[in-house]
Amino acid sequence: MSLDQHDLAVIRQVLEKLSFYQFLQPSELEKLVAGFEKSDIKKGDVLINQDKSGEIFYILAAGTVGVYLKGKLLGKKIATLGADSFFGEMSLISDEPRSATVMCEDDGVVYTLLKKTFREVILSNPAIAEMVRKTASDRKASTRSIEQAEWMGKKL
Ligand code: CMP
Repeated sequence: MSLDQHDLAVIRQVLEKLSFYQFLQPSELEKLVAGFEKSDIKKGDVLINQDKSGEIFYILAAGTVGVYLKGKLLGKKIATLGADSFFGEMSLISDEPRSATVMCEDDGVVYTLLKKTFREVILSNPAIAEMVRKTASDRKASTRSIEQAEWMGKKL
């Protein structure tokens, strides 16, 4: 979907609510605004498939998504993300396959960015890269503790 003036204003508002907005330089903000694509998402839409390669970063402007893990022990929901959060950062940082499946649970809107722009803008800004990496590592730790709890539960 191409973006009109209203969409551009909304993107700025969405970015303003994200943790890393304060560190964006005006030129970086311009690149992000120019790079975003907007998509409406509907309940049941699978936005990210676990184990596939990752090419897109997502900002959730409205709606809710669930994060699901598959595997030998799990086929379960590990997190719910709401408006003004981002996802899909992990595999763009690490080049590893997608760590989870992300599915829309309440109709909403996402703004997406290609990996190239994500790396050029987000990962090239040290303060922002650190915040996004921290979120990724906190999420990884949370997934690991859920997996461990599940594993212990299955063993008992
Ligand atoms: P990525 O691995 O690229 O694709 C799946 C996404 O789900 C991942 O990036 C994160 O954005 C998100 N994700 C994975 N694990 C968690 C978690 N424990 N909590 C919240 N979000 C997660």
